[in-house]
Amino acid sequence: MTTEFKINARPVRVDVPEDTPLLWVIRDDLGYTGTKFGCGIGLCGACTVHVNGRATRSCITPVKDVANSVVTTIEGLAENGHPLLETWVEAQTPQCGYCQPGQIMQAAAMLRDFPNPTDEQINQVMSGNFCRCMAYVRIREAIRMAAQRMQAGSGRPQEADHA
Ligand code: FES
Ligand code: FES
Repeated sequence: MTTEFKINARPVRVDVPEDTPLLWVIRDDLGYTGTKFGCGIGLCGACTVHVNGRATRSCITPVKDVANSVVTTIEGLAENGHPLLETWVEAQTPQCGYCQPGQIMQAAAMLRDFPNPTDEQINQVMSGNFCRCMAYVRIREAIRMAAQRMQAGSGRPQEADHA
């Protein structure tokens, strides 16, 4: 079955079974390997992407569900220069790095909904993204730094990922 959608502002058509997880379409068919496989059952957040601006676990999202939608991966966020990419480096957040694309995508979606999040909101929203290296303190620090930068108007615009 052919499914059409946009990914990182580019229109694509993929010819795969409609129940193929979006994660594998992104990685194997479209070559965006920044999105990672962790648990495969929607629990860890490693595979988080945006679908129409909302954080979405691509491992449990059939590709048919994103037909005519706008998908953004960590590569798309990087192309648009999201402030989180800068603060993640400045806070020296990653350890092994494996969970980090999913963490950043989840955080970017949160900052869209809560531009000036409280620590409680950060903890609540980010609690479903696991980090085996336990980089949680620096993840939250990088999020706070990005929020401050965006509030001050020095952060660059977020990605335009609405359909
Ligand atoms: S790989 Fe998708 S939530 Fe873990
Ligand atoms: S940095 Fe290693 S799993 Fe999070």
